[in-house]
Amino acid sequence: MQPEVVMIGLGYIGLPTAALIASNGVNVHGVDINPKVVETINRGEIHIVEPELDDAVAKAVNRGFLKADVKAVKANNYLIVVPTPFKGKNEPDISFVEAATKGILPLLKEGDLYIIESTSPVGTTEKMMDLIYSERPELKDKLYIAYCPERVLPGNVMYELVHNDRVIGGVNSESTEKAIAFYSSYVKGELHPTNARTAEMCKLVENSSRDVQIAFANELSLICAKADINVWDLINLANKHPRVNILQPGCGVGGHCIAVDPYFIVADFPMESQIIGKAREINNYKSFWCAEQVKNAKLQFQLDHGRKPKIAIMGLAFKPNIDDLRESPAKYIAQKVLQDANDEEFYIVEPNIEEHKVFKLTQYEDAFAKAEIVVYLVAHDEFKTLPKKSDKIILDFAGVNK
Ligand SMILES: NC(=O)c1ccc[n+]([C@@H]2O[C@H](COP(=O)([O-])OP(=O)(O)OC[C@H]3O[C@@H](n4cnc5c(N)ncnc54)[C@H](O)[C@@H]3O)[C@@H](O)[C@H]2O)c1
Repeated sequence: MQPEVVMIGLGYIGLPTAALIASNGVNVHGVDINPKVVETINRGEIHIVEPELDDAVAKAVNRGFLKADVKAVKANNYLIVVPTPFKGKNEPDISFVEAATKGILPLLKEGDLYIIESTSPVGTTEKMMDLIYSERPELKDKLYIAYCPERVLPGNVMYELVHNDRVIGGVNSESTEKAIAFYSSYVKGELHPTNARTAEMCKLVENSSRDVQIAFANELSLICAKADINVWDLINLANKHPRVNILQPGCGVGGHCIAVDPYFIVADFPMESQIIGKAREINNYKSFWCAEQVKNAKLQFQLDHGRKPKIAIMGLAFKPNIDDLRESPAKYIAQKVLQDANDEEFYIVEPNIEEHKVFKLTQYEDAFAKAEIVVYLVAHDEFKTLPKKSDKIILDFAGVNK
């Protein structure tokens, strides 16, 4: 039987979305170029960490509503949820979206709905429309083409997919309406109609706004380190003002979205996006600064004790309680600190993953017990159970003990 939906890209966003749609009794054909991902899903298992996803996928696969494959098949609705990383010097790379679109070109038929959910530079949906109609001119203006950005929070994806508001922008009003009808079958949040370009920019602006606000907190943390003020106390106090809401600093900004999307604006609007570009620089600099602080603590220990310290690097993920290491500032700092290593003993900790191809991982309690310098890079819940007071040197860049 022809599936109703083809979901292209079965990662952190595509797989939960596919499982959710399938859980409503809709036949979903998931496509991923990674055969291991396909095999895992077809066993009813998952390859990523996301609460409630394992259960949703197991049920959807066992009931026969979700099937994964390396190739697409004919359907009525196609969703593109592939990565959009950057290439070269922070230039957006839409080649995955292009490849996914080319993969379904021969399958498209009149009346089909094609939606891009991948975070994309402004104009991508129109570019894909041009690509589709140049290869399939007989379908011109007979498809519904729209862009709908995803704004879920990793760790709470299954809830937010249903309850978040969505911005939906078609290349024309018919496409917007058709896409809204599609999402209304499983989204309970409000569906806001717009055009494709605005929807694309909306996603980029949301993450740039977060990036700029985090940059402000990170800048404060650098100022406070010099001014000998506890930045966490300071922000807490400043936020007692009824109209002030400063975010928390960290060891930088990571992940597939906030650390990436602002560049999609900067690349296309370099003269206009001054604050957005500067925020990226500040957040990147914060990671470099953290690595320097570790280096300084290490040298100071050596001067004080006449030997090299044992150092625990706590956390590699880009934010608390997830296994996602993409664009992670913690991973960058760990790498940088290890590059400068000179016979010190390091314990690298990431409780959310079992193994890593570069880092030898240590269990968090062991690492804490053995280390003389403890560097908190991510505020994972496990770390909050460790002693706050000890004779160890603690560098808390994540606010674990705030
Ligand atoms: N992860 C998030 O929290 C999040 C939030 C909002 C938006 N986004 C955006 O959603 C998009 C997808 O992100 P993700 O985190 O799910 O990525 P991901 O890397 O977890 O998953 C993408 C999947 O697509 C597959 N893929 C790549 N090219 C393909 C192709 N041509 N055909 C079929 N499969 C292909 C990959 O093998 C991978 O499994 C990105 O544009 C991202 O910026 C992600």
